[in-house]
Amino acid sequence: MDAAELLALINTHPRVPLAHYPTPLVALPRLSTALGRPLYLKRDDEIGPALGGNKTRKLEFLLADALRRGHRKVATFGGLQSNHARLTAAAARRLGLEAHLFYFERRPATLSGNLLLNRLLGATMHFVPLGGGGDGGMTVETAIRLAGLVARLRLGRHYFIPVGGHHWLGCLGYVAAAAELDQQARSLGIGDARVVVAAGSGGTLAGLLAGFTLIGSGLRPLGVDVGKLWRSFPASIARLATELCRRLGQPHAFTPEQVPLVEGVYVGPRYGVPSTAGNAAIERLARAEGVLLDPIYTGKAFAGLLDLAAQGVLAADEPAIFLHTGGLPALFADCQPVG
Ligand SMILES: Cc1ncc(COP(=O)(O)O)c(C=O)c1O
Repeated sequence: MDAAELLALINTHPRVPLAHYPTPLVALPRLSTALGRPLYLKRDDEIGPALGGNKTRKLEFLLADALRRGHRKVATFGGLQSNHARLTAAAARRLGLEAHLFYFERRPATLSGNLLLNRLLGATMHFVPLGGGGDGGMTVETAIRLAGLVARLRLGRHYFIPVGGHHWLGCLGYVAAAAELDQQARSLGIGDARVVVAAGSGGTLAGLLAGFTLIGSGLRPLGVDVGKLWRSFPASIARLATELCRRLGQPHAFTPEQVPLVEGVYVGPRYGVPSTAGNAAIERLARAEGVLLDPIYTGKAFAGLLDLAAQGVLAADEPAIFLHTGGLPALFADCQPVG
């Protein structure tokens, strides 16, 4: 099927507009020269609202579903510097909804970065220090089930959004993004580029994988794991990509082995803690091109891109597109990059 047919299928699902599309696809000329390969940036960090990021594309579908079901209260959960939680708070405000954000950790002494923005946005933050996943001990699906239970006990009736918007409905946003990016890349003559993206809950990668596959795109996604967060992570991503195709009436089964994910290598100390290589990558892009990355997601993934290019895992002069998924509030949090 072509991109227009895919978008027509996606558009049968209600969506609340939270952004303007397409987000820019821009060249990085100085870094391209330095690396000897064409390098581009897809600017989903500029998508808005409230400092933007990849979760906006997912929330357009999820919050449309919440409204359709008559909910006034939405809840989600994540790590302390969850951009998804902050974007849920901002998007909920835009729609006149109440946002409840769950963190299965102690309340920090000071609220910085995304937590500070949540407060400005008037979201209710619930700190429930149960641990609750994210240390590789459980699958993302199990963590979602347990968090959903806690939220139901605390809040009663509400619309629950899984961590990172890890749900087929939200990830339709990245199936649509795959069609958008394919068209932009082909018009720049880089329709066969590698598309490198940070993988946290895995839904962005699942959406791109499903979307590129369904339209027969030459673009090839590559996820860089930033957290060693989940057990059997490739299997969860494969399940989600498979479900996306099924829900669109275009059955296609993905196996865990087909999920293009570099797991564990570029995580650094652990999820949520900056890495030395990630910090160096942030500085490199900032100083070469005046573009900022964040220390928890995009900095680590960009460090992966630079290293995979240096190692020759990305073929010589193969074009690469880095999907900038946002996350900038964490630059102002107490997990700042060092150096
Ligand atoms: C800035 C940023 N980049 C990348 C990701 C990863 O996206 P996904 O959860 O869809 O894997 C997230 C959230 O987890 C994020 O906040």
